Amino acid sequence: MSTVANTIFSPALAERFDKLVTTYPVRRSALIPMLLYAQDEIGYVSEAVVAEVAVRIGITELDVRNVLSYYSLLRTKPVGKYHVQVCTNICCMLRDGYGIFDHCKEKLGIGNKQTTPDGLFSLEEVECIGACSWAPAIQVNYDFHDELTPQKLDEIIDGYRANAAKPKQ
Ligand code: FES
Repeated sequence: MSTVANTIFSPALAERFDKLVTTYPVRRSALIPMLLYAQDEIGYVSEAVVAEVAVRIGITELDVRNVLSYYSLLRTKPVGKYHVQVCTNICCMLRDGYGIFDHCKEKLGIGNKQTTPDGLFSLEEVECIGACSWAPAIQVNYDFHDELTPQKLDEIIDGYRANAAKPKQ
């Protein structure tokens, strides 16, 4: 049973959060991991997530929002099942990062920060994702794909699409 009545999280995640706030010497240190776990479960950091996390940590909602606005990994709007983040920072840019980004737009039929009508894919242009040596690179949810070409990108997107179409086991 969670320490927060009427939690918006699953029982397993609520229990995890109960433990997490006791793990660190300073309760506030649990904020970012908690927001990331919440995002994984809910899909994004909603107003309800902000409110409950603030209560759990013992800080104000404004404190939570200040952290939210700083970290691009944390999202305040829903995204697709597969969130495609295309790096166009310097190394990727020099190796056709914008070509890859344009190809993504064309392949998915959406623009930057948009989601496909079926909710399967969303697209976002991002800064460096730490894969500079293997540019151009993208990140889809927690997966990295690098040394991309338009053809390789098509295969990756088609792979996710096929995966989504598989019956759940
Ligand atoms: S510049 Fe694209 S991964 Fe670093």
